[in-house]
Amino acid sequence: MTKTTTLTTTAGAPIADNQNSLSAGARGPLLLQDYQLIEKLAHQNRERIPERVVHAKGSAAYGTLTITNDITKYSKAKVFSEIGKKTEVFLRFSTVAGERGAADAERDVRGFALKVYTEEGNWDIVGNNTPVFFIRDPLKFPDFIRTQKRHPSTNLRSPTAMWDFWSLSPESLHQVTILFSDRGLPQNYRSMNGYGSHTYSFINEAGERFWVKFHFKSMQGIKTWTNREAEAVVAKDRESSQRDLYEAIEKGDFPRWRFCVQIMPETDAEKTPYNPFDLTKVWPHKDYPLIEVGILELNRNAQHYFAEVEQSSFSPSNIVPGIGFSPDKMLQGRIFAYADAHRYRVGTHYEALPVNRPRCPVHHYHADGAMLSDIPNRGDAYYEPNSFNGPVQTQRAAEPPLKISGDADRYDHRAGNDDYTQAGNLFRLMTPEQQGRLMDNIAEAMQGVPQEIVKRQIVHFYLADKAYGLGVADRMGLKGEVAFQAAE
Ligand code: NDP
Ligand code: HEM
Repeated sequence: MTKTTTLTTTAGAPIADNQNSLSAGARGPLLLQDYQLIEKLAHQNRERIPERVVHAKGSAAYGTLTITNDITKYSKAKVFSEIGKKTEVFLRFSTVAGERGAADAERDVRGFALKVYTEEGNWDIVGNNTPVFFIRDPLKFPDFIRTQKRHPSTNLRSPTAMWDFWSLSPESLHQVTILFSDRGLPQNYRSMNGYGSHTYSFINEAGERFWVKFHFKSMQGIKTWTNREAEAVVAKDRESSQRDLYEAIEKGDFPRWRFCVQIMPETDAEKTPYNPFDLTKVWPHKDYPLIEVGILELNRNAQHYFAEVEQSSFSPSNIVPGIGFSPDKMLQGRIFAYADAHRYRVGTHYEALPVNRPRCPVHHYHADGAMLSDIPNRGDAYYEPNSFNGPVQTQRAAEPPLKISGDADRYDHRAGNDDYTQAGNLFRLMTPEQQGRLMDNIAEAMQGVPQEIVKRQIVHFYLADKAYGLGVADRMGLKGEVAFQAAE
């Protein structure tokens, strides 16, 4: 028989009885001195942290990024330094709108948040399974998310709020088209692509900058549910994606993605017919073809969901030398938002937790704050500059200057911006069956929405592609009732 370990208090002292509370007589009231009872009840009261304000429901696993192609002419990041190099990663998938207990098989964008534990610090790509997003200015993010969450009075999700916002924000059309297409309802997290979505930058050893977009192509293939199939799944299993990912990894069927980049020379940004820093646009593959960089594989489940998955904290602000930001306004907003969320949701020293902790040495001058677990060993070098051999900055992390021009102002991001061509391109690359399902899904989601909002949205579909607008109008019983001519 294996030797059993003794149950102890959190202070390490052995516990005599973990079955019966301390009472005055067998039937009597309890004694205040039963500290273990108080400790158990009090600890339970503190077992939840705030759920993520978006992307609350998620699943994650560890794995490796293996480099298969030399891209050192674009980036000096050490993670790319040689073919065959393997770096540990942690990848968290999620749905966006639902709470922590939401069903997995719902039509929603999926999060694809990757932490790469590089030897020069953590590099996070906090992306989605879509290459674009609903808005292009971070000022609109809290409004947009409000329309995806519950109505303040009814506490129900509100299709009226969603379509009202989308119809008044035509920049959402491209992403709305993806969301209601087949790909808006993936069967599981393994069978979908991931995208960094934003434009980032690469910097090489010579100090040259390139603009870059990140793509992860599922090697399991794309698999999606129809609305009816998903309803049947949810009726029996609310954790279908969690179960699928966990079980595949447990049985050694490790999911993989081809990690690719699109590269744009720095000066091309002034020449493209679209703004390459606009998150509602893709870069056409024919102009900027995919270049394979490596293979991403997930091969180890987390041991403890709360410690690792719930406390994991990703931020687009986590970059490493050789990888930088871009002028994308949405990215700029996100550089602030995530670490701020982590300090509130997890705590000041969230980056010292095992799942978030860089795998390289960390040297900084921050220390005090709730739950400092590492004892800083800096001696007299606890400020900077100092004469006591404390850590100092390095030129290696410096970026080449970025030319910026223009007057400080609030620029109307809708004026003169083409919100229709790329959404129309997506519609036109679908088969007639896919187009039919897209329009069916939209019509289903618009049921009960006031007609004036529906008509306003149908005009956007029409401007992307006439067949798209007419098809949705037909399904909504509004054929001949939408003022298309006025919109043209
Ligand atoms: P391409 O024909 O070269 O690429 C089309 C892309 O669309 C492929 O990446 C394909 O993904 C993807 N795709 C196919 N069906 C859907 C769908 N229902 N939802 C989302 N993506 C889908 O064309 P372009 O590069 O010129 O782009 C044309 C349109 O394709 C764009 O307007 C955009 O909507 C969409 N797209 C473009 C991407 C890009 O980075 N250029 C990325 C993803 C979508 P897969 O190869 O996995 O089948
Ligand atoms: C999660 C803000 C746009 C992908 C979050 C969280 C916040 C946030 C506060 C919760 C973080 C946490 O508590 O750990 C914003 C803001 C945005 C924005 C302010 C726009 C200005 C986007 C975009 C993408 C994205 C464009 C994808 C391209 C994600 C993902 C998560 C997330 C994947 C979950 C990360 C995880 O798994 O922990 N976002 N977001 N977000 N966001 Fe955003």
